[in-house]
Amino acid sequence: MQNKPFPKLVNDRIIKVAKGETPDKLPVWVMRQAGRYLPEYQELRKNNSFFDICQNPELACEATLIPIRRFKVDAAIIFSDILVVPQALGMKVKMVPGVGPVITDPLTVESMTKLNVEGVISRLQYVGDAITLTRHRLNGEVPLFGFAGAPWTLMCYMVEGGTSKTMSKAKKWLYCHPDAATQLMDMLAEIITDYLLMQIKSGAQIVQVFDTCVEHLDRELYSKYGLPQLKRIASNLKSQMKACKIYIKGAHFFVDELDSLGYDVVSIDWTISPGYAGGCLHDKNVTLQGNLDPCALYAPKEKLIEMVERMIADFGTRRLIVNLGHGVYPDTDPEAFKTFVDAVHAVRL
Ligand code: CP3
Repeated sequence: MQNKPFPKLVNDRIIKVAKGETPDKLPVWVMRQAGRYLPEYQELRKNNSFFDICQNPELACEATLIPIRRFKVDAAIIFSDILVVPQALGMKVKMVPGVGPVITDPLTVESMTKLNVEGVISRLQYVGDAITLTRHRLNGEVPLFGFAGAPWTLMCYMVEGGTSKTMSKAKKWLYCHPDAATQLMDMLAEIITDYLLMQIKSGAQIVQVFDTCVEHLDRELYSKYGLPQLKRIASNLKSQMKACKIYIKGAHFFVDELDSLGYDVVSIDWTISPGYAGGCLHDKNVTLQGNLDPCALYAPKEKLIEMVERMIADFGTRRLIVNLGHGVYPDTDPEAFKTFVDAVHAVRL
């Protein structure tokens, strides 16, 4: 499987747009597109834990393909989670239904040295195997994305032990243990780089870095702890692949500089208006991705179509990959998801 050439890519809209070329139609995909809002996924989850699916390439491939079979999305994203990295570093991560991820022994400054860094990429090889298998099963229909969490977001989950309203435990490191915080994030940046390079080698055609917890920082903190690592990751990836993307949630304080991170595509959440983002980054050689409010999918069909059209008009159709501003919610009607995708493809370029 490893050495067999991959099938030729048929739908390359996203790759084109990421590089600034003009596609035949606007591309669209959605974060968490394989998730709990789909009955096929719920069926798969009945007999398998979340991480069982991630760790078994056949099951991960199956989950990845669910939205591709159902909708005309322009990309597949490998079924996994950002928390497989802390797991491979020796942390115990569980996915608790209705709660989210729970890490039983959150990271402390003292326990940092216990992280099992040696051989971490080989313990994540199952993700590479799932990517290789999925590239073959996709048969070139759409490109396959790989992904990883950004250093700051991973640090948040590792230190908090799960989701948090304030990320105050993680932020405490920044104020009280700045050297340890830098050391941890530098280490994570190196691992993430190697992990994404492994995914690219295994067949990922674009990779995306997720920095979901940026809304808790300000410009000063993010410039010191987070941005340098993100820039290093991008520059190390750039030589190896066609395009890389970053998703940032809560980047209000530096929208006009998002291009400086060095990624081809910047994905923004719904609280940043498309017109403002487009205005700030106009002519800066970066593709935007986003950003409809996931809750807009609850709206009546006509209203949803209208919101999609307005968002696209506000962004402008040049260098745009359409997405939601965050992952699709579990109580979304799959019909609304289809309406969203079809409304994007109906826009004339
Ligand atoms: O986009 C995709 O379809 C690919 C798969 C994917 C998942 N998680 C699957 C998943 C991706 C790209 C992620 C990324 C991820 N995971 C992020 C960054 C992007 C974001 O959404 O903010 C973060 C912060 C996580 C950590 C995580 N994983 C959380 C906070 C949760 C709980 C979410 C919730 O709504 O309860 C998860 C669980 C998770 N990750 C599920 C899926 C399909 C649901 C798990 C289940 O089946 O119970």
